[in-house]
Amino acid sequence: MIENPDMLDYGVYLKCDQLLSCQKPLKELATADELQFQIVHQVEELWMKLMTFTLVEIIEYMQQKQSHRVITLFGRVHRLQRMMVDQLAVLETMSPKEYQQIRLQLGNGSGQESPGFRMLLKLPNDLWKAFETHYLDEGKISIEDIYDEHYAHDEKYTVAEALIEYDELFQLFRWRHLFLIHRSIGLGSDSLKGRPVDLLQEGAKKRFFPKLWDIRNHMTNKWGSEYGKVRPSISGKS
Ligand code: HEM
Repeated sequence: MIENPDMLDYGVYLKCDQLLSCQKPLKELATADELQFQIVHQVEELWMKLMTFTLVEIIEYMQQKQSHRVITLFGRVHRLQRMMVDQLAVLETMSPKEYQQIRLQLGNGSGQESPGFRMLLKLPNDLWKAFETHYLDEGKISIEDIYDEHYAHDEKYTVAEALIEYDELFQLFRWRHLFLIHRSIGLGSDSLKGRPVDLLQEGAKKRFFPKLWDIRNHMTNKWGSEYGKVRPSISGKS
């Protein structure tokens, strides 16, 4: 890449020349909407790069039990996840016909090949391992201890809640993306890999940290043995 000699410090530092040449030249666009299609995907890849980097930092801080850092950095990851969800809406300004014109350009590419997404699918294993080892004392402390039996709203609890928020927002991205597909190509169609698009619903049901979800059912059933039966009305009218 030949550096633009007119570039000032801002552009040199941010490598604007390279960044702005990562999209198709304007005259090669299949339709005007293709520019936003490429940019939204590229921006989301950048956010996923930052999330991956931050999650690796989080794992290291979990290993050192630096919980304040863990929570602050999770706050960053959660914000990035919300942005990723919101940004999908930009693509809903594209008409189904214009998307069909763009789709002809994509070969048999699929979001499932996204390098950022693939990394994010792998990292939860290491996050959970770090949580079990350093916060659950190698499994000697149970999730029930943290949430119910010995509930203290302590660092174990706040880190667990940060983990479940990551899981929830990840699922939210998958569901929101399904609505985007619903709106652009329809859920009854096939992907460019020839698979029914509908299969994505299975992925959207996946949970990274099932124990953190299951504790809620467990507690409701346990506490419900006291209140889950029909009780006397508090108004006295029914
Ligand atoms: C109009 C816009 C879009 C359409 C029509 C669309 C369509 C699809 C389809 C059909 C699949 C399934 C592929 C397969 O079975 O191989 C898929 C997967 C995926 N797409 Fe998109 N997509 C769009 C935008 C985006 C954007 C902006 C992102 C941003 C990162 C994205 C990320 C993904 C990911 C990560 C997957 C894999 C999801 C999973 O395994 O749960 N997509 N997309």
